Amino acid sequence: MQSNEIRARFLTFFEKRGHAIIPSASLIPENDPSVLFNTAGMQPLVPYLLGESHPSGATRLANSQKCVRTVDIDEIGDNTHATFFEMLGNWSLGDYFKEEAIEWSFKLLTDKEEGFGLDPKRLYVTVFEGDENAPRDDEAFEIWKKYIPEHRIYFMGAKNNWWSPGDNGPCGPDSEMFYDVTVEGLGDMTKEEYLKADDEQKIVEIWNDVFMEYEKKDGKVIGKLSKKNVDTGSGLERVTMVVQGKNNIYDTDLLQPIVHQVHKVSQVRQVTDGNERVERIIADHLRTSIFMIADGVVPSNTDRGYILRRLLRRAVRLSHTLELSCGLEELVGSVIHIYTDSYPNLVKDAVRIQNEIKKEEEKFRLTLVHGMKEFERISEGKSELSGAETFSLFSSYGFPIEITKELASERGIVVDEKGFEEEFKKHKEISAVGSEQKFKGGLADTSEISTRYHTATHLLQKALRTVLGEHVFQKGSNITAERMRFDFSHGEKMTDEQKKMTEDLVNEKIKEALPVMYEDLPIDEARKRNPIGLFGDKYGDVVRVYTIGEGDKKWSIELCGGPHVKNTSELGHFKILKEEAVSAGVRRIKAVLE
Ligand code: ALA
Repeated sequence: MQSNEIRARFLTFFEKRGHAIIPSASLIPENDPSVLFNTAGMQPLVPYLLGESHPSGATRLANSQKCVRTVDIDEIGDNTHATFFEMLGNWSLGDYFKEEAIEWSFKLLTDKEEGFGLDPKRLYVTVFEGDENAPRDDEAFEIWKKYIPEHRIYFMGAKNNWWSPGDNGPCGPDSEMFYDVTVEGLGDMTKEEYLKADDEQKIVEIWNDVFMEYEKKDGKVIGKLSKKNVDTGSGLERVTMVVQGKNNIYDTDLLQPIVHQVHKVSQVRQVTDGNERVERIIADHLRTSIFMIADGVVPSNTDRGYILRRLLRRAVRLSHTLELSCGLEELVGSVIHIYTDSYPNLVKDAVRIQNEIKKEEEKFRLTLVHGMKEFERISEGKSELSGAETFSLFSSYGFPIEITKELASERGIVVDEKGFEEEFKKHKEISAVGSEQKFKGGLADTSEISTRYHTATHLLQKALRTVLGEHVFQKGSNITAERMRFDFSHGEKMTDEQKKMTEDLVNEKIKEALPVMYEDLPIDEARKRNPIGLFGDKYGDVVRVYTIGEGDKKWSIELCGGPHVKNTSELGHFKILKEEAVSAGVRRIKAVLE
């Protein structure tokens, strides 16, 4: 049974039992600042699990939700972990409870006609053993006994069998289902044997039924919800793995074609276990990156963009290790092909996705080899790398911590990760400035002078659009304490007259002492102001819009994270030093503030 069939059977099964089938929400949570990505199917449904009614009016829902979990990043490439996965889920919003939830889980897993036809003799189940928050779940135990021999149902503590999305929100005891993936079959096991089998990945968790009737605040259970809900989650990759009789998710039809493609273009032929794992990591990171980009994330040094950047760069460095004969973007097709029917938006967006990946790969390849040399240099004869050293590999060569850690562990060197985080935090603000360019020129600083240059780029962009035309857009900028560099789209060399007009216009706006202000606006509001720098369709985000000048003196409106000066009078005198070509259709201005 192919994964598409498994997904479809899951949804049909619940549709037949009165569930409204809802589409997967974006990977980017809409109104939930507590997570960067949706990590569970229930995340977009929190308001309804807390008691609000669902817009569809339904009290039974089911879907397949795209999820990203990066906490497991060190485990990627083992048998059961992936940074991206689909979570099949069904929900009861104050409707059915344990009886139906368990009955349906069992039926769907084992029924040959309607379900996946799994062998009930290979199923093991855990239920909550009780603590100060809630009693032992004898109810779930009794229900399970109808389907599974009692000695294959284990009582476990809150660490294993209490589920909540974080420190806050709806939560409750859960019941987890595990499947035996060994060839020989494990048969009956004591609790100790079961725990060991879990450790050794001989059994794998395939479904979790959460009985959500409690609420948590700041990590503490504060009481019962007004309604009893059910929240279930079953990883499509894992279910597919057991249905297809594999012992790891990378051999399923959801990942195998990608791993195979990576293997095919790898020029390091001596396949060891190590190589296999590296191939899996590349496949995983590429797949996750594609889904992230499709949902509007672009590589950057903050938040979601930073997570994407880390995944892509790690994949680039590992493809260097395996000497892949092509760039990552050429592997994109092998991923999208798998999702042609289930996520047609990937097909529509393929070119943009490929371009994003190509851009990031090219950018990182510029510094990768130098960075590796620098790593060899600073780590020679050492047993530990400090936070500052690790951070300098990031700031100068764009090495995310994972890459440095990997290189270090290959050589038995320890990395001060905490130290790295501290350095990173210190420089976080700075990354808002010229972040696109920081890997080439080292870190820009946030000193006052850089802030002044930053504001000058806004004045310059507007001046160029006034003098040369509306085809001019910023293509990049790089600021140091000494000068600014500004790349923009324009097809030909600027004349001396155009340069002079541009320079004069910037200086005029400096003299006018215009105030610089910003507003944080929902994207649709922002769009109404027609700011420079707002491209394409992005929904649900709040963006910062900087305006220079007020009323009839309003001069530039730009989408930007800042920081900026308060008034253009702080800039001094603006002077263009040079105007030159960078590439076809892109020009560069070097300028100073005196
Ligand atoms: N929300 C539950 C989980 O993620 C189903 O395991």
